[in-house]
Amino acid sequence: MIDLGLRFKAQSDIFSDRMPPEKIRDVLVSELPDAPSGLDAVLSMFAQTVLPLCKNEASPHFVGFGDTGDDPAALAGGLLALLTQQNLINQSFDAPSATFVEMVVLRWLRDLLGYHNAPVSNIQTVWDVGGVITHGGTTSNAVAMMLAREHKAPGTMHVGVVNPNQFGIIVPRGIGHYSVKSALTWIGVGDQAIEVDTHAFRYDLTALERALHEHRDQVMSVVAYAGDSRTQTVEHLRRVYEIVSTADPRIWLHVDACWGLVAAFSDKFRYLLDGITEFDSVTVDPHKVMAVPYSLSALVVRQPASLRTVSSYSDLIMQEDYAFGQVTPFIGTKGWLSLKLWMMMLSHGRAGLAALAEHRVSKARRFAALLDEHPHMLRMHDPDLSAVAFVYLPSNVRPESTVTELEIDWINTVNQGIHDRMLAEGSWYLHQFSLPDDHGRLRAGATLYPFRFMANNPRTGEHHMAEVIDYVTKLGGNLEGELR
Ligand SMILES: Cc1ncc(COP(=O)(O)O)c(C=O)c1O
Repeated sequence: MIDLGLRFKAQSDIFSDRMPPEKIRDVLVSELPDAPSGLDAVLSMFAQTVLPLCKNEASPHFVGFGDTGDDPAALAGGLLALLTQQNLINQSFDAPSATFVEMVVLRWLRDLLGYHNAPVSNIQTVWDVGGVITHGGTTSNAVAMMLAREHKAPGTMHVGVVNPNQFGIIVPRGIGHYSVKSALTWIGVGDQAIEVDTHAFRYDLTALERALHEHRDQVMSVVAYAGDSRTQTVEHLRRVYEIVSTADPRIWLHVDACWGLVAAFSDKFRYLLDGITEFDSVTVDPHKVMAVPYSLSALVVRQPASLRTVSSYSDLIMQEDYAFGQVTPFIGTKGWLSLKLWMMMLSHGRAGLAALAEHRVSKARRFAALLDEHPHMLRMHDPDLSAVAFVYLPSNVRPESTVTELEIDWINTVNQGIHDRMLAEGSWYLHQFSLPDDHGRLRAGATLYPFRFMANNPRTGEHHMAEVIDYVTKLGGNLEGELR
């Protein structure tokens, strides 16, 4: 089983086989047979029919997303967590040592971000730790929104939502992640995200001040991105903190640092996170930036005791000081997710984490330089971390002169066509999404559909970067000819 998995990870292709979804449906969706098959037969069925269609993010050609999940120590932790079957809901009989591994990992994350940790002997309960481990950034953000709600109207957990108008949140327009908006609907306060204009993928600070003034008393939280999900631009956190706390110090400040955590690893990039410890809560996603296999996220909070406001108790279980189940809303039984991270962080140490961050950022800068040398490629931003978003420029478009709306449509048609073809062929993967042209590289205010290169994959080298640019150029040239 381990050989099968490792051979899969080590293969150079992203996919061994491609099929349209309906065909995969028809092959795989069948009735449960009466007769038992035995594990060997099941494994070989899996290897022949399911695995060839799986995507291999560790392929050096998979350059569009963060997670390669291939850190050896993290993989070892993942396997051992499966085999040891600890349940992080309780400490005493469910997770006697695992609970403290979870705690130490949260403390390391807090420390890297710059938050203060209480002396070990002062950790008397889970409310002294200052964070929780969850299954992903979406859950961590949802818990943060619950904290914001309880901060604004204490006791809403128990009495229900009264006067929903007070639970608005401010988010940056066009670059936020859907999870915080979804969280508002899940926690019952209504979908009331107030979108504020951005400039260069950060809040337009004048517009932020204006929004705070216009929506006085209606805002429970301001959300900032330390690495937005598209370009990984890191917000000017200290400026946002100063503006929000001046306007209304009661507002809960949340940072989504799912991507930005990586800046905390190196002295060279930590300045990007200046001000983060003034924020009330921070989401981080080690399964995005630390090559930790799915899934693992954490929410850390400035004041550890704030987690009391979203705690739940039961007389069946969790009646003990160190039971994490009390402070993880939405989650009951929870596997030992943190073991992967414990092993990964110990095996790298501080120096290894710094080297990982520096290697990724320098690779992203090299990719940006390759784009800049190429007549058909246009970079949409200056990379802060490891993401580089860019468009393919069709032959007749000149970015130095005024680009018309018609030309924007043409650029988008060609870029989306390239992406469709890339997905169908399956030999390379770059991510694609809508993006406001926030630097005005082509036409200020236009919505573009760029590609996104991500420098997280340790197997992607310089020649792969040149090859993927050639590949996009070739597809773009072919499409231009066909579509005209
Ligand atoms: C900025 C940001 N926040 C939150 C999330 C959600 O994280 P997850 O998929 O781990 O739930 C993402 C996912 O891409 C993200 O980019």
